[in-house]
Amino acid sequence: MRSIVMSLRRVVAAVALLLLGGALLNVAAQSRPTRPSRADARATAMFEQGRRVFRMDTFGDEGFWSGTLQLDKAIAGAKHGGVGPGLSPAAALAAGLKVDSAALPKAVVKAIKAGKVNLKDPATTLALLKLNAVVGVRGHFSRDGSRLTSVGLTCAVCHSVVDNSFAKGIGRRLDGWPNRDLNVGAIVSMAPNLKPVADLLGTDVDTVKKVLASWGPGKFDAELFMDGKAFRPDGKSAATLIPPAFGLSGVNLHTYTGWGTVTYWNAFVANLEMHGQGNFSDARLDNADKFPVAARAGFGHVRNRVDKVTAKLPALHFYQLALPAPKPPSNSYDHAAAARGRSVFMGAGKCSSCHMPPTFSDPGWNMHKPSEICTDSFQADRSPDGMYRTTPLRGLWTHTKGGFYHDGRFATLGAVVDHYDSCMSLGLSSQQKSDLVQYLKSL
Ligand code: HEC
Ligand code: HEC
Repeated sequence: MRSIVMSLRRVVAAVALLLLGGALLNVAAQSRPTRPSRADARATAMFEQGRRVFRMDTFGDEGFWSGTLQLDKAIAGAKHGGVGPGLSPAAALAAGLKVDSAALPKAVVKAIKAGKVNLKDPATTLALLKLNAVVGVRGHFSRDGSRLTSVGLTCAVCHSVVDNSFAKGIGRRLDGWPNRDLNVGAIVSMAPNLKPVADLLGTDVDTVKKVLASWGPGKFDAELFMDGKAFRPDGKSAATLIPPAFGLSGVNLHTYTGWGTVTYWNAFVANLEMHGQGNFSDARLDNADKFPVAARAGFGHVRNRVDKVTAKLPALHFYQLALPAPKPPSNSYDHAAAARGRSVFMGAGKCSSCHMPPTFSDPGWNMHKPSEICTDSFQADRSPDGMYRTTPLRGLWTHTKGGFYHDGRFATLGAVVDHYDSCMSLGLSSQQKSDLVQYLKSL
C-alpha cells in the first residue's frame, strides 16, 4: 500500500516537472530572438528584386518608345534637342503621371515648397527624370547629362499611384493601385512617329490618333494590338479600365477575361504591350480569325536575341502576389450598414456564389459566361475563351474613379447592385441595396 502511494507521488512529481519543464522550454523558445532563416532571407531578397522589376524595369522597351516612336524627343522638346514644346511637369501631372517624393533630394523639396521650381518648364521634367522621380517612366541621358537620349516605361506607370502627401500627384509610391488618372492615349499620342503603330494595326496615323484620343483617363486597350478592334458595336471605345495589381494571390485566372495566370500576363504585357525585348509563347494568338493583328505579327512566338524579360518573371510574380489589397479608411463607410450588407452579400444577394471571401473571386475556375452576369459578350469574345473572370473585390475603394466592370459601364456601386438585382431577379429592398453598397466599400 505504502509503495503504491510512494510511486503515485513520484508520478505526480514527474508530471509536474515535465509540465514545468515544458513551460520553461516554451518561454525559452519565445524569448529567443528569431534569427531569419535562410528561407526568410531568400524570400526577402526575391520580394525586393520583384519590387525593383515592378517599379524600375523597362525590359529594354526604350527600343520601341524611343528608338521607334521617339517619345523621348516629344518629352524633351525642341529647346533640349527634341521636337515640339516638350512636356512640362504641370502637363505631365495633368496627364496623370505621378512623382515619387522619396526620390527628391531635400534641396529640391525645399525649392518646390518655396515656389522656386518652374512647373511649366520641360527642363524641370528632365531634372525629375534624371532623379528617377517620375513613377513608371525611366529616362536615360547623355554622359554629360545635358541630353535625354531615351525613355522607357515600367509596370508602375499604370499600376502605381502616390499618396499625394506632398501635393496632388506628388507623394510616396502606392504599388499595385491602378492609376485611373493616367491618360495613356494622350501620352502615346505625343510620340512624333506613330507610323509603326499604324502599320502594325494596318491603318493610318490619323486613325491611330483618333483611337488613342477615345481611351480617356484610366483606360488602355491591351487587346487592340491582338485583334485591331478599337470600338465596340455601339461606337464607344473598346478600351478597358486599368485594374489593380494588388490582392491577386489565391486568384486563378487574371485579366477581365481570364487570359491566364499573373505570370502569364506579366510576360504578355512586358513583350506585347510595353514592347520589351523578351521571349513569349502563346499559340492561341495564331488564330487569325480572332487575333488578326497578333497572328500577322507572330506575337504567339516572340524571340529576341537577348531576352530581358524571362529571367525577371519569378521575382516579379512573387512581388505581385505579396501585395495585399489596402484596407479602406475606417471613416470611409458606415460600419453598421456594412455588417448588415455582409449578410446580403452572403445570402439574399447571392454574391458569394461567385465572389467568395477572402479572395472574392471563385476558388478554382473563376470564369463565367456573359449571360450569367447579363452582359454583352464583346470584350469576352476578344479573349481566347469568350468568358468573363470574377473580379476580386478587395480594395474597391481605391478605384471608384472610372466606374465598375471592365469598361466602367456602371458609374457607381449602387448601379452595379441594381444591375444584379434585375439580372438575378433578387428583389432586394432599397435598404438591402444600400447596405450592400456599404459592405462593398468596406472590402
Ligand atoms: C499601359 C498601361 C499598363 C501597363 C504599362 C501595364 N499594365 Fe497591367 N494592365 C493594364 C490593363 C488595361 C489591364 C487589363 C487588361 C485586360 O483585362 O484585358 C491590365 C491587367 C493586368 C493584370 C491583371 C489584373 C487582374 O485583375 O487580374 C496584371 C497582373 C497586370 N496587369 C500586371 C502588369 C505588369 C506586371 C506590368 C509590367 C510588366 C503591367 N501590368 C503593365 C494596363 C497596364
Ligand atoms: C455568376 C457570378 C457572379 C455573381 C453571382 C456576382 N458577380 Fe460580381 N462579377 C462577376 C464577374 C464575372 C464580374 C466581371 C464583370 C466585368 O468586368 O465585365 C463581376 C464584377 C463585379 C464588380 C465590379 C468590380 C470592378 O472592379 O469593376 C462588383 C462591384 C461586383 N461584381 C459585385 C457583385 C455583387 C454585389 C454581387 C451580388 C449582388 C455579385 N457581384 C454577384 C461575377 C459575379
